[in-house]
Amino acid sequence: MATALIILAAGQGTRMNSDLPKVLHEVAGAPLLVHAMTAGATIAADRMIVVTGHGADAVAAAARAHDETVEIAHQAEQRGTGHAVAAALPLLEGFEGRVIVLFGDTPFIRTGTLEAMLAASSDVVVLGFEAAEPGRYGRLVTHGGHLYGIVEWKDANKDQRAITLCNSGVIAAEAALLRRLVAGLDDRNASGEFYLTDIVAAARAAGLTAEVVTCSEAETLGVNTRADLAAAERIFQARKRAEMMEDGVTLTAPETVFFAFDTVVGRETVIGPNVFFGPGVTVESEAEILPFCHLEGCHISRGARVGPFARLRPGAELAEDVHVGNFVEIKNAILDEGVKVGHLSYLGDASVGAHANIGAGTITCNYDGVMKHRTEIGERAFIGSDTMLVAPVRVGARALTGSGSVITEDVPDDAVAIGRARQVLKPGLAVKLFEKLKAIKASRRKETE
Ligand code: UD1
Ligand code: CA
Repeated sequence: MATALIILAAGQGTRMNSDLPKVLHEVAGAPLLVHAMTAGATIAADRMIVVTGHGADAVAAAARAHDETVEIAHQAEQRGTGHAVAAALPLLEGFEGRVIVLFGDTPFIRTGTLEAMLAASSDVVVLGFEAAEPGRYGRLVTHGGHLYGIVEWKDANKDQRAITLCNSGVIAAEAALLRRLVAGLDDRNASGEFYLTDIVAAARAAGLTAEVVTCSEAETLGVNTRADLAAAERIFQARKRAEMMEDGVTLTAPETVFFAFDTVVGRETVIGPNVFFGPGVTVESEAEILPFCHLEGCHISRGARVGPFARLRPGAELAEDVHVGNFVEIKNAILDEGVKVGHLSYLGDASVGAHANIGAGTITCNYDGVMKHRTEIGERAFIGSDTMLVAPVRVGARALTGSGSVITEDVPDDAVAIGRARQVLKPGLAVKLFEKLKAIKASRRKETE
């Protein structure tokens, strides 16, 4: 059966106290909305609709940037979750199949949970959870395994508030039925909103069935405050670390390693303490990431060794067995097999041939204040320590640059380039200089006495 996903993301998220729409706040480098969309994508939904309202343009742009096939519905005025679903339904005209409604601020619903909801046979299926602190969640009114209704906290009486089985917000029903039930909603309640949750009681009243599928509370964590956002980050990181280790990655101190939503790491790779992954990092197997590295938008191949204290920025591509050492920054640069950049260097907008050795303190001067320029270094070249490579410039294969050189012109293959002032020697001058300096110091002391 076909499935469609409606993701509600029109709310402002007042309690975030932010100019940014709530669903654009990030967990592990991706907006909350993208996490919700990812959960949906894993069940291979045929259609995905995001309902926008507050910050609609920015929210729609973020949704499309993640998945260009996403459909956008607009809810001009936020009059409740049922009203938001009604805004999406015209896009599903003629669609036959199951619809799952998810919230854009609930990032961690697992694939298996959504599958269990799709497999359930009742007309309306609600995802619930046992809450440690039920707070203001909607309460699920059940009896003998059947679901009779959902009561919002504001509308609940004392007995209903004592219920600990809560509504996650995820609801599934067949499209035609959902259309009928949503059309029948009203706003006669404590909030004056059209509650999606009211479709349960309406379905029961029409002689239809409703049931609860349950999941863990962590899975349904809804982000309403910045403290929730931090809690969501913790949950994400804990999950991702566990997944990595199951997949054969060694984490020396897992709680100090931060992954992005899309980090990929191969088997037998070892990651030391305090390593941060921004978005877009892939690491092949048997690599080693030493402590305190900051990695983003880069690729690290098999057998490469990075760090400690290395920074790889977007476009850094390390081939097999490359070694990038401490205090090295690499940006938009391709390092071929076996390249060594051991210490204190910056390589930006560059390509470095296989087995080249980049001496300590080498810098590609890639920016002239207006434009960026490329540096090309040939295979097995030997770049002397503290070489300034003033781009655009090319150093040939097996060529050598003298330490401290400022290289402004291309160096042919196999050549040696020395670009520094010649050393001058003045025998005995040091002694005279120091005597002079001591004399100056002594006369100043006298003056101040
Ligand atoms: C909702 C549920 C509640 C559940 C809780 C779980 C309803 C009526 N209540 O309450 O039972 O326990 O979630 O977190 O459904 N939204 C729109 N347009 C609107 C209103 C909301 O798009 O007009 C979106 C929000 O952006 C948000 C989601 O729907 O992503 C939930 O809305 P919110 O106001 O946070 O609902 P809760 O009061 O938390
Ligand atoms: Ca909420």
